[in-house]
Order: sequence, then C-alpha cells, then structure tokens
Amino acid sequence: MVATLLVSLLLATYSVVASAASTSEAFIYHGFHGANLSLDGLSAVEHGGLLRLTNGTKQSTGHAFFPTPFDFVNSSNGNPLSFSTAFVFAIYPQYPDVSAHGLAIALAPSKDLAGALPSQHLGLFNLTNNGNSSDHILAVELDTVQTIEFDDINDNHVGIDLNGLRSIDSAPASYFTGTGIGRGEFKNLSLISRQPMHLRVEYDGEAMRLDVTLSPLGAAKPQVPLLSSTFNLSSFVADRMYVGFSAATGAVTALHYVLGWSFCLNGKAKEIDISRLPALPPVPADGAPKHSHVFLVALLIASSVFLLVLIMFGLVLAVRRKMRYAEEREDWEVEYGPHRISYKDLYKATNGFGEESMLGAGGFGSVYRGVMPKSKLQIAVKRVSNGSRQGMKEFVAEIATIGRVRHRNLVQLLGYSRRRGELLLVYDYMPNGSLDRYLFDRPEVLLGWSQRFRVIRCIAAGLLYLHEEWEQVVLHRDIKASNVLLDAEFNGRLGDFGLARLYDRGANPQTTHVVGTLGYLAPELSRTGIATTSSDVYAFGAFLLEVACGRRPIELKTSGVELVLVDWVLDLLKKKAIAEARDRRLGESFDVEEVELVLKLGLLCSHPVPTARPSMRQVVQFLDGDAKVPDMMEEAVLLFESVARGNNLFVDSTATHPMDGSESYLFPVSDTLFSRGR
Ligand SMILES: *[C@@H]1O[C@H](CO)[C@@H](O)[C@H](O)[C@H]1NC(C)=O
Ligand SMILES: *[C@@H]1O[C@H](CO)[C@@H](O)[C@H](O)[C@H]1NC(C)=O
Ligand SMILES: *[C@@H]1O[C@H](CO)[C@@H](O)[C@H](O)[C@H]1NC(C)=O
Ligand SMILES: *[C@@H]1O[C@H](CO)[C@@H](O)[C@H](O)[C@H]1NC(C)=O
Ligand SMILES: *[C@@H]1O[C@H](CO)[C@@H](O)[C@H](O)[C@H]1NC(C)=O
Ligand SMILES: *[C@@H]1O[C@H](CO)[C@@H](O)[C@H](O)[C@H]1NC(C)=O
Ligand SMILES: *[C@@H]1O[C@H](CO)[C@@H](O)[C@H](O)[C@H]1NC(C)=O
Repeated sequence: MVATLLVSLLLATYSVVASAASTSEAFIYHGFHGANLSLDGLSAVEHGGLLRLTNGTKQSTGHAFFPTPFDFVNSSNGNPLSFSTAFVFAIYPQYPDVSAHGLAIALAPSKDLAGALPSQHLGLFNLTNNGNSSDHILAVELDTVQTIEFDDINDNHVGIDLNGLRSIDSAPASYFTGTGIGRGEFKNLSLISRQPMHLRVEYDGEAMRLDVTLSPLGAAKPQVPLLSSTFNLSSFVADRMYVGFSAATGAVTALHYVLGWSFCLNGKAKEIDISRLPALPPVPADGAPKHSHVFLVALLIASSVFLLVLIMFGLVLAVRRKMRYAEEREDWEVEYGPHRISYKDLYKATNGFGEESMLGAGGFGSVYRGVMPKSKLQIAVKRVSNGSRQGMKEFVAEIATIGRVRHRNLVQLLGYSRRRGELLLVYDYMPNGSLDRYLFDRPEVLLGWSQRFRVIRCIAAGLLYLHEEWEQVVLHRDIKASNVLLDAEFNGRLGDFGLARLYDRGANPQTTHVVGTLGYLAPELSRTGIATTSSDVYAFGAFLLEVACGRRPIELKTSGVELVLVDWVLDLLKKKAIAEARDRRLGESFDVEEVELVLKLGLLCSHPVPTARPSMRQVVQFLDGDAKVPDMMEEAVLLFESVARGNNLFVDSTATHPMDGSESYLFPVSDTLFSRGR
C-alpha cells in the first residue's frame, strides 16, 4: 500500500513519508498543483496550486478527498489508531461580515458526498442521514453561520461533529498564544477575515482524545487546545475511511481555500512549511481612496463610498435578520392565519431557544419556556423536527382543529409556527411540570394520595371531553404520566393530544406505524395498528396503575426480570390484597377505598379484550362514585390471565375468545379526528 502510494505520489508535487516502523501512512501537500485528489461540486485546483472548494455559486457544495481510503482501526485488536492532520485555509466572504456556510475536514466511509446538502448541512449530511449513527462521519467544522436548528453557539466557531451537525463540542474561533508553559494571552480570530489560518486535528488512539487547535498562519502551535473531546473512534469509523474537505455555500456565498495539507495515520503529521504555500488572491483594498488635490472629487467619492457602505451594512443586517427569523409559510396556510405565530416572536420569547430556556427534551422534541414579547403571556414551545413535508398540510389542519379544543383539564394549544424541517407548537405554560416528576426516580416532592386522586379525576374528565363531549372524537394516542402536566394549583392537564399523529405519517404510507409507548399500547393496537377510543382507555388504565403504585407499567428489576405491573396487581387481586399494590412511599396517609377503586379500575381498563373495557363516561362515573366498579368476576380474571401471562401483553387475545363476535365494536379509525355519528 505504502509502496504504491509512493510510486504514484512521487510524480506529483507532494510526497509520501513512510516512517521507520512502516506502519504509518502519511502525505503532505504544499499547494495542490498536479495533486491526485477526488474533487466534486464546485471544487477545483487553481493555477497557482490553491485548492478552492467553492467558487461563488450559491446553495452549493464542493468536496476534495484523498483518493484512497485508510484503516483507522488496528485490525488485530480493534483499537483505534492515532492520526494527526493539519491544514492551512482562508475564507473569502462575499460581504465583509457575512459568509456562508463554512468548511470542514471529514473522515467519511465514501468520498462521494454528492447526496449531502449545502448551507447549514456543510455538504456533509442531508435531512435523512443527519444524526444517524450509521453514517460513520467524523468532522471538524469551521462554521461561519449560526444555525439555531443545530444549537450553534455563534457564527464564528469550530466544532466537532460525530455523525451529525449538532456538534458534540464547539468553541468560538480563538486561541491562547502560549506555546510552552502557561496559556498565554487569549485572542479571538475571525474565520472570515481572509487571513490564512492553521487548523490542527490530532487524535490520540490510546487516550481516545481528539484535540483541535486553531492559530493564525505563522504562529507556533498553541499549547492549549481549543477543543478536546474523548471518544472511542473505532465505534465511529467504518472499515475503510476517506479523509478530505467539504465546504458549502448558502443564500450568501464565500470562497473557501485550502493552501496546504498534511496528514499522518499512526504518527504525527509533518509540519507544513509555510514558505512553500501558494499565494492567496489579493484582498481588495479597504477604506477610502487617497486624498486628492481635487477636493470636490474626493468628497464625492468619499460620500458615495460612505453611502455604499451604509447600504451594504443595511443589506447585511437585513440578510442576517432574514436568516435568523426565516420561517416557512405557504399559500394554503392563509386559512389558519389566527393559529400562526411568527417565528420571530417565538425566538424572542425563548431568548433564541437558549439553553437556559429549555424545560426538557422528550420523544417528540425539546420544550422551551418563554414569555411572549407583547402580551407577556407565559408559554411553552415544543420544537418538533419533522424531516418530511409529507402530510404537513393535513397535520396543520388538525392542529388548527385541536387549537379550538378547550377544556380546563387539557393543555391549551395556542398556535404553531413552521421552519424548514421543524414544527413549533405553542402551549400554555404549566408551572409545575409533568406528573412523572412527582412519582418516579426519587422525586424531590412526592405527590400525596389526595392530590393523585384529584389528578386522576382531572385526566379522566379531560379524556372524556376529547372522546365524547367535543364536536369531533379526538384520540389522544399517548396517555402516560409524562404527558400529564400540573398547573399552578396542581390540577392535572392532559398534554400533547393528537401529536402522535405526526409520527404516524411515516415516509412510507404502506406501513402502519404504531405510535405510543411500550406498556401503554393496547394489544389490539399493536396487532392492527388501528387506534380507537378503547386503546386510549387501555393506556389510561396503565396510567391509573402507575399513579396508584408509583411504578412504571414495565419495570426492570435489579435481578434483570421484568415486572409487568398489570400482572403483579392482578396477582394481588387474586390474593384479595389488591391495596397492597399501592405506592409504599405514601405511608399511612391514603384512602383505602379510593386506592382499591383506582387499582380495580386500572385493571378493568387494561383488559386485553377491548369490549370489556369501560368507556370514559363510565370511568368518570366510577371515579365519582356514581357507579360501582363491577367486582372482577372469576371468569374475567381467568381470561385476563390466559393472555396477560408470560409477560406478554401483546398476545392476540381476541382470536380465541368467545367475545370475538363483538369485534365490530372496533370502529375503524384511521385519523385522530373523525366525525361523530356512529
Ligand atoms: C489517482 O488516484 C487514483 C486512486 O488511487 C488512481 O486510480 C489514479 O490512477 C490516480 N491518477 C493519477 C493521475 O495518478
Ligand atoms: C462554479 O463551478 C460550477 C461547477 O463547476 C460552474 O458551473 C460555475 O459556472 C462556476 N461559477 C463560477 C462563478 O465560476
Ligand atoms: C496493532 O495491535 C497489535 C497487537 O496489539 C500490535 O502488535 C501492532 O503494533 C498494532 N498495529 C499498529 C499499526 O499499531
Ligand atoms: C442523503 O445522503 C446519503 C449519504 O450521502 C445518500 O445515500 C442519500 O441518498 C441522501 N438522501 C437524499 C434524500 O438525498
Ligand atoms: C440510519 O441509517 C440506516 C442506513 O442508512 C437506516 O437503516 C436507519 O433506519 C437509519 N436510522 C434512523 C434513525 O434514521
Ligand atoms: C472575543 O470575542 C467575544 C465574542 O465572540 C467577546 O465576548 C470577547 O470579549 C472577545 N475577547 C477578546 C479578548 O477580544
Ligand atoms: C472501542 O470500541 C471498539 C468497537 O466498538 C471496541 O472493540 C473496543 O473495545 C473499544 N475500546 C475501549 C477501550 O472501550
């Protein structure tokens, strides 16, 4: 391998260095004249030997990879190998202080990244593969645009990207001048200053640490790395990896140049000899022209330059503003106007979706707290990433409908906003957070029984409203403690109803995608994929049991055995000791009749046969004491057992049971919303 590299590479103006141990592979380029690189997109080598990755075309990418791949893992023991690379680059922005979008050095399993997107995706990823652990892409980005979607820290940063554009570590472009002992002085750098800079990326295979340093050309290597991250490279790399550059432009463009590049696998990259680097294009002269003896002409020129600068400044500001607040709005959305909230308002309300505003992250996306700029209304904003635009119109129609649903036990949806690949849902802010915080994982505050019982009644009322009292039937599809929120008075409110629909519309409409959470999924739902009001009741049953027992529907015990809550409660029922299932942390302060009621009702709602479950109206009557929970007949228990045994909640139960005849009860529902009139 090294020998063939030597033969082919010696012909060009760079050389391959084989170390004494002959286990390291290396190359170094001072300029790229005649270099055998794999170029694509906008990239080209200019006459002087400069590698230009982009050429001033907007919304485009350019790549340059070393033609042959490397093994970054020691095949005999699976350990990652060390590598080291350094390169000198310069970015010539289109406008003095706006550039797009940046460049990156990457290890990738293929040198064909033509399917990747420009702009914020940096020519490395696209909407389908960003963040996927099977990408095997490791990159160090020099990013000159702040992309909020990827939590970028600013518009002038260096970041380490593992399989996605949300950097695992990043820092503003800067360095410490110290080269020996001590950090030295801290200095900022501007990536888009047209000044050549030196980036070094060094991975220590033994310590599994990646260090990145940035410095101006000519300065010695800083002692303190700008970024230092520890990870096991061998879990990120594929068998053979290519190394190279990627750059991308967006609505604004730039020229991204590489002047020289050194790389070494299993050793230290040779220092680039800066005297041998090609020259950069001249920097256009800044500032006003020289004072001339014709004063009038000078004044004229000066004032026009001033005007031009002013206009450009305005333009730049406008472009930045536009990029920051860019949102998607299409013609069909006009009719949903009242529900539409501007992205700009949400951005301001949440301090730019800053970390300090973040309330948490869940299955559907992250949630931020905010205060609307004008009304001072407290809101919670849920950012749902939604790669596909498919079904967006229908979903927005549903949001608009759901926005009209109002009930004191439902979290009010105030409106929505859209950005590329992202949907933002705006809700009333619930100061006391979600119920699970007060039940599981050593809560700071444990909810007492009377409060739990009240929350249960609240949620039953909210669900009854969705199922039977509003103008259309609304299915919730994901009832569980973490979707129950507590308002200022600790009243329970059901959140996120109908949101599961969004995930129901998978890319492939042929496959039925069951949405919900394991342990709350009704057996017939996982079999048929059809959600009904009784599958909601099933999840409500699981919710009743978790609130009364203070345990999750399926728990892994320390012994490694799964505890299926329904089975356990059922066992206690048979032993006529159902109240023993209650949350032991409640101590003596509970009402035994209420506890038994909730547990029995929980079992009844969890019945494997849909028709045996009560409706939400009956549930509310039981909870209000207006009707008695039928004592579980022996027969029911037997039936229950036959299917709920063996930790298998998903056995097809209806197929063998006489109650099968009433299957027609399962009204086929293909939408969250369907009109009443059964
Ligand atoms: C460039 O490198 C590729 C891959 O090693 C090789 O197939 C090709 O012959 C080389 N071309 C030149 C001109 O050296
Ligand atoms: C940039 O490169 C592309 C692809 O090679 C080419 O079509 C385009 O004309 C070039 N633009 C400029 C400004 O050179
Ligand atoms: C790979 O691991 C083997 C066994 O630990 C070691 O002898 C060899 O030197 C390693 N190879 C490289 C390239 O580090
Ligand atoms: C996304 O990128 C991957 C890898 O480069 C590629 O296989 C895939 O086709 C791309 N997807 C789209 C939609 O372009
Ligand atoms: C990740 O990519 C692999 C292969 O391209 C694909 O099979 C898998 O579904 C993707 N995973 C996610 C979460 O998108
Ligand atoms: C460096 O830039 C940051 C903003 O990016 C600024 O807060 C800081 O004061 C600057 N430091 C120096 C030494 O110029
Ligand atoms: C690093 O990851 C590889 C592959 O996943 C594994 O074989 C190896 O044991 C890991 N090394 C360490 C020290 O965890």
